[in-house]
Amino acid sequence: MATVPLASTTLRRLEGKVALITGGAGGIGEATVKLFSNHGAKVVIADIQDDKGHSICQELHKSSASYVHCDVTNENDIETAVNTTVSKFGKLDIMVNNAGITGPNKTNILENTLSEFQQVINVNLVGAFLGTKHASRVMIPAKRGTIINTASVAGNIGGTTNHAYTSSKHGIVGLTRNTAVELGPFGIRVNCVSPYIVLTPMAKKYLKVDDDGILGVYSNLKGTNLMPNDVAEANLYLGSDESKYVSGHNLIVDGGFTVVNNGFCVFGQSV
Ligand SMILES: NC(=O)c1ccc[n+]([C@@H]2O[C@H](COP(=O)([O-])OP(=O)(O)OC[C@H]3O[C@@H](n4cnc5c(N)ncnc54)[C@H](O)[C@@H]3O)[C@@H](O)[C@H]2O)c1
Repeated sequence: MATVPLASTTLRRLEGKVALITGGAGGIGEATVKLFSNHGAKVVIADIQDDKGHSICQELHKSSASYVHCDVTNENDIETAVNTTVSKFGKLDIMVNNAGITGPNKTNILENTLSEFQQVINVNLVGAFLGTKHASRVMIPAKRGTIINTASVAGNIGGTTNHAYTSSKHGIVGLTRNTAVELGPFGIRVNCVSPYIVLTPMAKKYLKVDDDGILGVYSNLKGTNLMPNDVAEANLYLGSDESKYVSGHNLIVDGGFTVVNNGFCVFGQSV
């Protein structure tokens, strides 16, 4: 029997790959851009924070990173971002649909306005739909590619955030599964990542907390906090060939938060 080579964490796992990452100028997206770049990928950041996006590219090697202004709710912007990636780096291997917003922290449906609800759906769900559509446009003829959508624990259970955000993230899980089915025959994998709370600028603003946060109060796994880089590592796995037969999967990165109902749990919570 042939010897199976051992995977090594020191390997550059994305050598020769080209990635486009929406929302790559901040938080989880920025961590993903940097990790992908460290693993040898050429990376294009698509975001609306132009200064931040350019400055991240400056930090990385100039020939391996690029920024494109892209509002993910605008189909022309997404189309341009995909075309820019292909013209600059020759192909698109990994599309990360990560850009997202929470919308206002209003939990009473009577206070929710239609426009606030639609804006969150537009960025979080329509943005991922457009990203998947235009990535597929170039991945289908190439007969390869991997698409990663950022969902959330809010895409798996109810009651953790507002209605728009929860709906958009449940939608991401559905979009992931449906497009995985359609695109599998073309050799394209589609997966999503569902993180627990990560203290990024978005989460701090929404939850009105600082770096000390409230992570540990609700978490199941104690003794460590979920950091942007931990989610980036999940993206790295799904973007790399190490996950070559994983598709339609929802990789929940929540320390067990969504598998317990604390209203009926035989194990004590105190440690
Ligand atoms: N932080 C958390 O606790 C958490 C948990 C689960 C899932 N998520 C998801 O992770 C993703 C990244 O969130 P984050 O916490 O890093 O937030 P963040 O605010 O730190 O970063 C989001 C990035 O998206 C960009 N963006 C916003 N609207 C955009 C648009 N219309 N077009 C292009 N770019 C846009 C922002 O400029 C920013 O760079 C989001 O999809 C979010 O829903 C976050």
